[in-house]
Amino acid sequence: MSTGQSLGKKQEGLGSELPLLRVEDLCIDFFARGQQFRAVDRVSLELERGRVLALVGESGSGKSVTGLALTRLLPDPPQCRVSGRIIFRGHDLSTLSRKAIRAWRGRIAYVFQETGSALNPVFSVGYQIAEAVRLHQPGVRDVRAEVVRALELVGMENPQQRAESYPHQLSGGMQQRAMIAMALACRPELLVADEPTTGLDVTIQAQIVELLRDLQQRLGMAVLLITHDFGVVSGFADRVAVMRQGQIVERGETEHILRQPRHPYTRALIACIPVLGSRRRRLPTIASGQ
Ligand SMILES: Nc1ncnc2c1ncn2[C@@H]1O[C@H](COP(=O)(O)OP(=O)(O)OP(=O)(O)O)[C@@H](O)[C@H]1O
Ligand SMILES: [Mg+2]
Repeated sequence: MSTGQSLGKKQEGLGSELPLLRVEDLCIDFFARGQQFRAVDRVSLELERGRVLALVGESGSGKSVTGLALTRLLPDPPQCRVSGRIIFRGHDLSTLSRKAIRAWRGRIAYVFQETGSALNPVFSVGYQIAEAVRLHQPGVRDVRAEVVRALELVGMENPQQRAESYPHQLSGGMQQRAMIAMALACRPELLVADEPTTGLDVTIQAQIVELLRDLQQRLGMAVLLITHDFGVVSGFADRVAVMRQGQIVERGETEHILRQPRHPYTRALIACIPVLGSRRRRLPTIASGQ
């Protein structure tokens, strides 16, 4: 039995006081043309069951690779090296083999950043959701009913018909709903939603945030919300971790961070939230050493 399995058995027996997810000292290095690049530097995070943690930071700060590292969706060595511990439900996922980790994908489900490339253009949406059901819920007999249920859950109109649609036949907002349906079809305990509103127009962005918030509460799942936009965080995330150049520079309760940000970088990110009716002004910048 691996260290991960024995740790899991022992710790699960202790009850539910353990956080659902604990990331300890996560480091991610990429190697290319003889050069090493540290994308994530000693990141530690905790997420309780049924809670929402937002990972906020500018482009390239290491948010997506942190999310992908949870279920080892990053390239293998020598291209990429990951260290640190990822404890999910008391199991140390970082010690599991590549084969063993597959069983955990689904319990940790993703809405990937690139909706366009995450949906396969040659298969119908229903087919793709059915694949997720077959893989992660092998006990389900009526896969078709489960697909329709998932599409209903995300508020897709005419779910029976929509299941037959190909991704190009759906609007950006509907594609995003289909992606969320696919993730939920795995019945996850943790949903990693990576920039779930990027690329959508403002009205649809608000609808998708509302949908995620509603689903999170109804299904009681935990969400790791990855975004560069503090506007999405407010009213959704319980806690925030602010990431910059691979490191967490500030963390805390969302309301507290929004009211009293300490780090100049957090203040700059918050200042980027658009306010209706305000006059146009230059966006704040801070020097890299700050
Ligand atoms: N497969 C890869 N090979 C090499 N470098 C990579 C790879 N994936 C990510 N990186 C680098 O790691 C750093 C962090 O990338 P990441 O995608 O996590 O940023 P991000 O915070 O999600 O940004 P964005 O808001 O633009 O999505 C970036 O400098 C990126 O270029
Ligand atoms: Mg990203």
